[in-house]
Amino acid sequence: MNNKIANIEELLKQMTLDEKASLCSGMNRWKTEAIDRLGIASMNVSDGPHGVRRPKNENEYGMKNAKENAPATCFPTASALASSWDRELMKRIGEALAKEAKRLDVQILLGPGINMKRSPLGGRNFEYYSEDPYLAGELGVAYVNGLQSQGVGACVKHYACNNQEHERMSISAAVDERTLREIYLPAFEKIVKEAKPWSMMAAYNKVNGIYATENDYLLQSILREEWGFQGIVMSDWGATSQRVQALAAGLDLEMPGPSPANDKKIVAVVQEGKLDEQLLDQAVRNMLTVLFQVLEHRDPECEVDIDAHHQLAKEAAVSSMVLLKNEDSILPLNVSRMSTLAVIGPMAVEPRYQGAGSSKVNATKLEQPLEYIKKAAGDAVNVLYAQGYSDKLETEEVESTETVLRGTVHETALVSCEEAYEAELTSNEETRKTKLALRKEALDAAQKANVVLLFLGLPEKIESEGYDRQHIDLPINQVKLLEELAQVNENIVVVLNNGSAIAMPWIDKAKAVLEGWLCGQACGSAIADLLFGVINPSGKLQETFALQLEDNPSYLFFPGEEGKVEYREGIYIGYRYYDSKNMKVLFPFGHGLSYTTFQYSNLQVSDLEIKDIDGLQAQVDVVNTGDRVGKEIVQLYVKPPRSRLKRPIKELKGFQKVELSPGERKTVSFELTKRDFSYYDPNVGAWVMESGEYEIHIGKSSRELCLSQVVTVHSTDKALVSLSSDSIVKEWIDSPIGKQALFDILEEENMKEKIDASLAGVHAEMVLGMPIKKLFYFDPSKAERLDLILERLIQRLDVLRS
Ligand code: BGC
Repeated sequence: MNNKIANIEELLKQMTLDEKASLCSGMNRWKTEAIDRLGIASMNVSDGPHGVRRPKNENEYGMKNAKENAPATCFPTASALASSWDRELMKRIGEALAKEAKRLDVQILLGPGINMKRSPLGGRNFEYYSEDPYLAGELGVAYVNGLQSQGVGACVKHYACNNQEHERMSISAAVDERTLREIYLPAFEKIVKEAKPWSMMAAYNKVNGIYATENDYLLQSILREEWGFQGIVMSDWGATSQRVQALAAGLDLEMPGPSPANDKKIVAVVQEGKLDEQLLDQAVRNMLTVLFQVLEHRDPECEVDIDAHHQLAKEAAVSSMVLLKNEDSILPLNVSRMSTLAVIGPMAVEPRYQGAGSSKVNATKLEQPLEYIKKAAGDAVNVLYAQGYSDKLETEEVESTETVLRGTVHETALVSCEEAYEAELTSNEETRKTKLALRKEALDAAQKANVVLLFLGLPEKIESEGYDRQHIDLPINQVKLLEELAQVNENIVVVLNNGSAIAMPWIDKAKAVLEGWLCGQACGSAIADLLFGVINPSGKLQETFALQLEDNPSYLFFPGEEGKVEYREGIYIGYRYYDSKNMKVLFPFGHGLSYTTFQYSNLQVSDLEIKDIDGLQAQVDVVNTGDRVGKEIVQLYVKPPRSRLKRPIKELKGFQKVELSPGERKTVSFELTKRDFSYYDPNVGAWVMESGEYEIHIGKSSRELCLSQVVTVHSTDKALVSLSSDSIVKEWIDSPIGKQALFDILEEENMKEKIDASLAGVHAEMVLGMPIKKLFYFDPSKAERLDLILERLIQRLDVLRS
């Protein structure tokens, strides 16, 4: 142990109350407080998550303009990175971020952001990994491990249920216990347990009526007591409400600082005996432990190879982009069969490569897709560029479209969009002329070209931290342009720049769609390499693309009203909902195409019948049946049997990304744990696994399952429900010891045969749904001894349980 950490108890004894309280809030926007007389220095924290955003002036937020921050590599944002499904890559990105953080004297990086994508409207979805907690957790573990292996602390955010931007500083997420445990907490839980992050960020919002920053249940009972978290909990910037309650609940650090008024409040309540000083001491202990740990690794001289990091950003970008559609194998582009290529859309020149808000990095460089497309096309191909539409003109248009959309239901939204669009076209003569000229130029280029590369996407105005989207459509002027281009050229390839799912009512007009996400500073060469087949696409969707917004399970309950957002769809988020309902979607969770083909075979599990589950292995062979090197993401889903509590039809419980040369075969393996088969039972307050037949599926996406194997599980979990004389017959029979107790008593009462017959007959369903006492009540010979029989039944159960 570091000497300073060993000395913390000694330090605590020497500290005055004021000094202790001072450590519980920042010194400025980005620094923690120092105590010079005791040799306690400050540490610096910075955003995160996909690049280090270190404001040049630490008294500023540095958010008006990215240039206010020191240059740093801008990696793809989280929704892109998660589409790589690549743990090893995430780890290397974590390591690279740590080196840059060190160089900029940053000790804690504010990331990763791992909140679930409850609705595609979430303004910050670009900064989050997935709609699936397993995928988000696995990737988060790798990122945190990478970062912390270099001595820079992670700050996992935003804990918890920060799933929208609307009223983010006040809204209360009303979420039931099972949903919390199965959907909104597991990614945090996995990271805390497996990667041991040095800090966590408590979210702005309330969870079930209590601010996350003062939520004792989240911060103490779950985070520290259940999961064993040992780092510091800091507030999101300005998220502290009642400082004293927050401290008592486990919020160690209020950010940003300084916050002298709150420091004084802490001192006063301790002096008045209203707050046990032990609680303050514990916060200080947490602070100092992490502080000394990160300062030990402080290294502003740390060498950073900026070019190598740019290359890593490129590798991340190519691994993250998802080829959604590729009709007639129009991609990869075949230069030898092409004389003219039209590149249309301003994002080909000025890509949207990162999100807006606190994560906006001052990139060390920025690649322009057009430049790399020209290089890849070579001299023999005439590359024509046309802007087609204008971001600036578009902003006005978007504004007017948004105004129309706000407060309307989606059915009328498209009509309204059209109206706004037409209105805009006629409202301003100059704008109209410019737009017509831009479109004419684009149509001319498209007419001459063999293939059109059309760059579309969401402007920053629509997608940002701080507000949610109002719809999931592309701006109407972009869609109009696509429709017009499709009339003159049938070979349209759409390249998208957006941070989260969009609807594509226009998909039939495009032969191919490459989801380019917000893919960081090396997006230019990445896009070109994928389009021209220098690199084979290998990303897959970390979120479902629905046909329309209304299909999303949270649609009717998002973003809430009167200060509260009810998570009424419960555990049915993303594919858990679409797949359970067998609904048509645009592109399913886990979908992504390649220029080669893969086949799976030979699924084997280590046990076909197993008592408890830990250690169950599954393996499958994957072969590259095409003629190019490629990477495949093999996904494992578990389908549970019908259980006492309703469950999603299947859930992701494993994945492996594997690279294969043409003809090459590899075996990929998965290890499953009991938790992978369990659900959270709020009545028992624990994860439970039921006995039954579980199906293990191996698939290419949640909708393309290729192989399956049934495993019979005998659970050793004790009674799942507390059984009483009011519990129904089914509950008694479903519990192994309940069944035993019941059958013993039925034998003793000579009722076994009769009841067996009823359970096999046409009224079985009704009998199974009766309270157990009715079995005896309806038998006239037992009615008088009813209480006695029930007492014996419960006693028998108790004996078996012990
Ligand atoms: C964001 C955090 C960010 C912090 C500091 C907040 O508004 O929610 O994610 O780390 O600002 O910039």
